[in-house]
Amino acid sequence: MTFRVASIVGARPQLIKAAVVSRALRAACEEVLIHTGQHYDANMSDVFFEELGIPAPDRHLGVGSGTHAQQTGRMLERIEAALQELTPQAVLVYGDTNSTLAGALAAAKLGLPVAHVEAGLRSFNRRMPEEINRVVADTLSRWLFCPTTTAVSNLKQEGITRGVHLVGDVMGDLLRVVTDGAGGLPDSLAAGGLRPGHYVVATVHRAENTDDPARLREIVRGLAALEWQVVFPVHPRTRRALEASGLNDALGRGRVMAIEPLGYPDMMRLVRSARCVVTDSGGLQKEAVWLGVPCVTVRDETEWVETLEGGWNVLTGASADQLIAAAARPRPSTSPPAVFGDGKAAERMVEVLRREV
Ligand code: UD1
Repeated sequence: MTFRVASIVGARPQLIKAAVVSRALRAACEEVLIHTGQHYDANMSDVFFEELGIPAPDRHLGVGSGTHAQQTGRMLERIEAALQELTPQAVLVYGDTNSTLAGALAAAKLGLPVAHVEAGLRSFNRRMPEEINRVVADTLSRWLFCPTTTAVSNLKQEGITRGVHLVGDVMGDLLRVVTDGAGGLPDSLAAGGLRPGHYVVATVHRAENTDDPARLREIVRGLAALEWQVVFPVHPRTRRALEASGLNDALGRGRVMAIEPLGYPDMMRLVRSARCVVTDSGGLQKEAVWLGVPCVTVRDETEWVETLEGGWNVLTGASADQLIAAAARPRPSTSPPAVFGDGKAAERMVEVLRREV
């Protein structure tokens, strides 16, 4: 007997994950896709549907930006209505954004079982909105699909052991597909004279960095002081924060190329030939290490502690001096830690759902 799963996406990293999970789900059951509209710019949303072949959403809720309460409140109301219309037997949510929180809560209140992809991650920092979203989503979920053994033990420490499945990382599934045979640098950047191995890729978008002018200033000071060309695809939140804090001039004094956010295959090609990556993104820390590129994480902690092994990833907080030193460190001599599993995470999740829904 077939069954229907409603998957809820909304923000950029969830679209990337849906690219592989939707494909696996649709081979086994009926999937309906609900896009909350948390991300809405073409280069934050549409581009991923086009490039990664994600099926068009069955419902687009058009929620957009706002405070956490506004955004989550609007989502709750609209997700509930969509779920009532679409009548799925289970609801799947990804990661740790406000779309995850609202999806899990709306489903649980309707008595629908929730599957959480990327369950069990913890930064142990409740000042991060993502940490609150994860903890709530995990508490409400019937299936907790963990990417790592660390995630499984985090859940165990909170007394959650039922429904926990170590499946591996769906981002690993996708990265394998995307980088298989992928060419060199994206055309626009190759034309700009970037030399493989001689540039740094930087991204900054976490509220803890963008919304704290002192932290943002330090990160900008660090990036502008690097001796290599820095390619900086700028998230819209960060663009606004840089303008508001008057930091664009400081950025311009270095060798920083601030560009629009890139699509996924272009971003991975750019990272693969970089000297190092400087980021506060969870996904990019893993992608860098997976592609054998040393990473500097401008945060005080990471959920992906495996990436720190062998010095492939280094936490510098928002200190310009530490950022500069970490970017200049020699390449680790060990091979990068295997952070992503075997490329079969989506398959395993779908197998569990097929047995248990
Ligand atoms: C969200 C997630 C974060 C995730 C990130 C990936 C939450 C709490 N945060 O952060 O965990 O790592 O997505 O990108 O859910 N904006 C635009 N255009 C867009 C989207 C956003 O201009 O398409 C601007 C708006 O000013 C908006 C701001 O970015 O207010 C923040 O967007 P929001 O979705 O609230 O959070 P992100 O910072 O993207």
